[in-house]
Amino acid sequence: MEDPEVTEALVIAIDGPSGSGKSTVSKAVARQLGLAYLDTGAMYRVAAVWLERHGALDRPELMPGLIDTMPLELSLDPDDQFFRLEGEDISALIRSTTVSTYVSKVSTCLGARAVLVARQQAVVAAEQQPGGWSGGRGIVAEGRDITTVVAPEAAVRVLLTASERARLARRALEVHGAADAAALAATADQVVRRDRDDSTVAQFMEAPAGVTVVDSSALTIEQTVQAVLDLVPG
Ligand code: DC
Repeated sequence: MEDPEVTEALVIAIDGPSGSGKSTVSKAVARQLGLAYLDTGAMYRVAAVWLERHGALDRPELMPGLIDTMPLELSLDPDDQFFRLEGEDISALIRSTTVSTYVSKVSTCLGARAVLVARQQAVVAAEQQPGGWSGGRGIVAEGRDITTVVAPEAAVRVLLTASERARLARRALEVHGAADAAALAATADQVVRRDRDDSTVAQFMEAPAGVTVVDSSALTIEQTVQAVLDLVPG
């Protein structure tokens, strides 16, 4: 990739509920700007697998300690995402319905969140240094508390929203390959219930001061990506 004059690392933080297009848009923005990409939701998913393997999914008191020593290796390349736990590639496993169902046990545990947030902040800090994956260009980080808790100092802070109808249809297409009534009903629990559970500990449905709302309901992916790129200073 050619190297335009990069003076200062750029941090772009993107929050939003399930099905808002966060991951697709964040990856595309990272790719276009030559930045690293961090999917913090995937870190919650990896932690859920790790805790499940230690029989600790219902033992919140054990979660912070176990997550602190979790041997996670993650890729920050938007074109080659992978997550390894003790050397095992669990990138596909973390997307399974089983993990999607129990990951809220981790994301609703405040002690678990504190440790994961610290690990995420370390990644964001490293990407602002020359030795990082992006060579110090910066990072696009996505997840539900990125703009408020993990990277409140980010130069660009976005809350990506979409109507519940648009979000359900996208997730149904992604998971079931269709957006008919049966697929929508099957998806509703995952999207609506998880958002409700998560909203008890992370505020992501309303934009705090300094965070720009981008509503993707009526936008294509390209238009949504452009809307985010338009917010980059300079
Ligand atoms: O975005 P996702 O579905 O992969 O996220 C997995 C779970 O982690 C989901 O329950 C939301 C939660 N999460 C969170 O609470 N905070 C984040 N920064 C990212 C994800």
